Amino acid sequence: MQSQATYNYKVVRQFAIMTVVWGIVGMLVGVIVAAQLVWPELNFAEWFHFGRLRPLHTNAVIFAFGGCALFATSYYVVQRTNHVPLFAPKLASFTFWGWQLVILLAAITLPLGITTSKEYAELEWPIDLLIAVVWVSYAIVFFGTIAKRKTSHIYVANWFYGAFILAVALLHIVNSAAIPVSLTKSYSAYAGVQDAMIQWWYGHNAVGFFLTAGFLGMMYYFVPKQADRPVYSYRLSVVHFWALIFTYMWAGPHHLHYTALPDWTQSVGMVFSLILLAPSWGGMINGIMTLSGAWHKLRTDPILKFLITSLSFYGMSTFEGPMMSVKTVNALSHYTDWTVGHVHSGALGWVAMVSIGAMYYLLPRMYGKTEMYSTKLITTHFWIATIGVVLYIASMWIAGVMQGLMWRATNPDGTLTYSFVESVKASYPFWSIRLLGGVLFLGGMLLMFYNMVKTIAGQKAYSAPVVAPQAAHA
Ligand code: HEM
Ligand code: HEM
Repeated sequence: MQSQATYNYKVVRQFAIMTVVWGIVGMLVGVIVAAQLVWPELNFAEWFHFGRLRPLHTNAVIFAFGGCALFATSYYVVQRTNHVPLFAPKLASFTFWGWQLVILLAAITLPLGITTSKEYAELEWPIDLLIAVVWVSYAIVFFGTIAKRKTSHIYVANWFYGAFILAVALLHIVNSAAIPVSLTKSYSAYAGVQDAMIQWWYGHNAVGFFLTAGFLGMMYYFVPKQADRPVYSYRLSVVHFWALIFTYMWAGPHHLHYTALPDWTQSVGMVFSLILLAPSWGGMINGIMTLSGAWHKLRTDPILKFLITSLSFYGMSTFEGPMMSVKTVNALSHYTDWTVGHVHSGALGWVAMVSIGAMYYLLPRMYGKTEMYSTKLITTHFWIATIGVVLYIASMWIAGVMQGLMWRATNPDGTLTYSFVESVKASYPFWSIRLLGGVLFLGGMLLMFYNMVKTIAGQKAYSAPVVAPQAAHA
């Protein structure tokens, strides 16, 4: 007798567990760099300097924490919504081990000061090649699974995941083009302002596709699932998809206002950033309105609290971003902590919170249970995390606007009112509040780790039989 096919949960489990682990590591490094800004004496060794640890933080939270969350959920969603196990399971396993190797190499090379110096693309060429191989394998597994699907239509979450996978491949391969001079040093294939433009085409679309489109895929599956409601408007989700992916690609020059980049290019970036508000809010509204008729669930379900709050932060950061892209506003905000506040309202409020919500949904199901070990701990985690984000971003907004105003203040005779170091001194109280916010957020992640270990303890790994399309919708 032929045994029934089961979904490939092993790789989902591996990535889900590593999401929590890398979340803790990456945020711990975030807390350390935040502490170094408050107590500069913490820069006690070359490999432990702010300048070395800052890229370690960004790589760890974006690519290790965020990346593992995206791999875990996309592999789960693509199987469940297409009613087939993963295509090429060995290749899927390779993507897990390959991605962990990339993270390990990043954790070794960045503190050693081995870097291309391109923000969010710091890793040197041998690691870049490994990333490209892992990413192409990921694309083969993901699209191979869609190709052998048992359903006639492709659920919208897969569209977002698919766009994220294709766009990141394109961005990574183009932006990483370089001429190696040794195993640990290469020079960009581009020069001058072209290099800057390609870098921020990459950088902004890393935000648009890595930190946004992939997580929107997550949102389109886990919000309806957790709310037990169909997505508010399927039509809006399709309009949202095409408008978002078309618009993001043109907005990169807003990172290069008032630079050597031709002025008209900066204006194009600004206009597309303003347009981007519409699809972003379309997506947010679609997610939040999915709760129509089920608002009461928010009162008792902490996983929904995470998911819906993440959408509120998504709405906030995608309102703030277009405002900051206006050249006159950017003249004040650029180089200040306002940008850092904006980044973390997106990164902690949106990316981390939607991932945490999705992991709380996923983890028990991976071990044959319906819920986590402690719902109370999830509620505590939610409140600690929310207070942490609010402290982080509010302090950065105040510090940022203050810095911008201090730097531009002039005396009647035209001299500067404040020296730079005075603005640094004035920032200390806000950096301390940011540190407190970060410690709270990290504390929440430690609670999650404990809850995860208790959920897994004593539970055998679980495999679910593949469901026929007509038997269930996902
Ligand atoms: C406990 C949580 C966290 C803390 C304490 C923290 C702290 C920090 C600090 C101190 C910086 C450097 C700011 C500066 O240079 O002045 C930074 C930068 C950054 N962090 Fe975090 N972070 C946390 C979580 C995250 C998460 C979850 C993400 C992404 C998913 C993230 C993404 C970034 C990015 C992209 C930057 C660079 C910002 C820029 O260049 O403007 N962080 N973080
Ligand atoms: C409509 C959507 C958005 C627009 C138009 C936008 C616009 C902007 C602008 C104008 C800046 C400042 C550039 C500068 O002065 O250097 C910025 C920085 C940044 N934004 Fe956004 N933003 C959006 C959404 C988001 C979201 C949702 C996230 C995170 C999940 C995010 C992450 C970042 C990061 C990491 C940076 C700092 C880049 C750097 O200098 O290192 N943005 N964004």
